[in-house]
Amino acid sequence: MLKKTDLILVAGATGGVGQLVIAKLLSKNLCVRALSRSRNKARQMFGEAVEIAVGDLRYQETLATATKNVTHIICCSGTTAFPSQRWDFLNWFVAKNTPRAVDGSGVKNLVAAAPENLKRFVLISSCGVLRKERFPFKVLNAFGILDAKLEAEAAIKASQLPYTIIRPGRLIDGPYTSYDLNSLLRAKTEGKKAVVIGTGDTLNGESSRIDVAQVCVECLNYQVTVGKAFELINYGKRPAVTDWEQLWAQIG
Ligand SMILES: NC(=O)c1ccc[n+]([C@@H]2O[C@H](COP(=O)([O-])OP(=O)(O)OC[C@H]3O[C@@H](n4cnc5c(N)ncnc54)[C@H](OP(=O)(O)O)[C@@H]3O)[C@@H](O)[C@H]2O)c1
Repeated sequence: MLKKTDLILVAGATGGVGQLVIAKLLSKNLCVRALSRSRNKARQMFGEAVEIAVGDLRYQETLATATKNVTHIICCSGTTAFPSQRWDFLNWFVAKNTPRAVDGSGVKNLVAAAPENLKRFVLISSCGVLRKERFPFKVLNAFGILDAKLEAEAAIKASQLPYTIIRPGRLIDGPYTSYDLNSLLRAKTEGKKAVVIGTGDTLNGESSRIDVAQVCVECLNYQVTVGKAFELINYGKRPAVTDWEQLWAQIG
């Protein structure tokens, strides 16, 4: 169970899922440290509500301060699957922010920087990591995003850390990049489809960032989710209340 004395590091804090994870943690009065490459960007989003650690997953040496004394890490970071401005092509002075650098080696750097007594490392991976050769994942993987995600999964599994790997489908809802924390807390899943989880990478579909964020936080309260990798999509009629115990039963 999460405790008030815990300190949770959120990597990719300023991203779509990351912001929702932070809002969810703060709504439970938990202590949060946000990892971002930009202190200003994080401060503008979260004000004084969280600690801010400046770090870049590409550079191992920038992560020691960020991970110091943390009890949990939720890793929501990532770059685009296809070439975009976010790959930092125009900045000649830095390593390119490609899937291999961020979603692969970057996550490996974070795993290596995690405290030995970490209670949980939650990683957002992706549906398709075990089906990279099949359509449509072969196209999605054209620049190596799924290779990188699988590499990151392998690094976490090979570490001694207790982990949970969440593999969403195509993300919907948000990113709420210009919203403040109060608006994020009001982001609702009413009217949306039910949360469906599965194993073995057979599910296809869309995943609500709101639900992915909720699962990132919720799983920390359930021991059954330790050492598990599962897919998460939204499908079918949503019940009034999501029964987490019933969902976890499906991941064994
Ligand atoms: N989009 C999809 O359909 C899809 C599908 C399956 C899985 N996913 C995964 O779901 C997760 C959340 O996606 P999202 O769309 O909500 O995220 P997002 O909005 O793209 O945010 C990603 C965050 O990663 C951080 N980041 C990028 N490069 C970094 C670096 N070198 N060092 C440190 N941080 C870095 C950025 O933060 P700063 O700029 O503040 O540093 C950014 O806020 C990601 O892991 C993504 O791969 C996405």
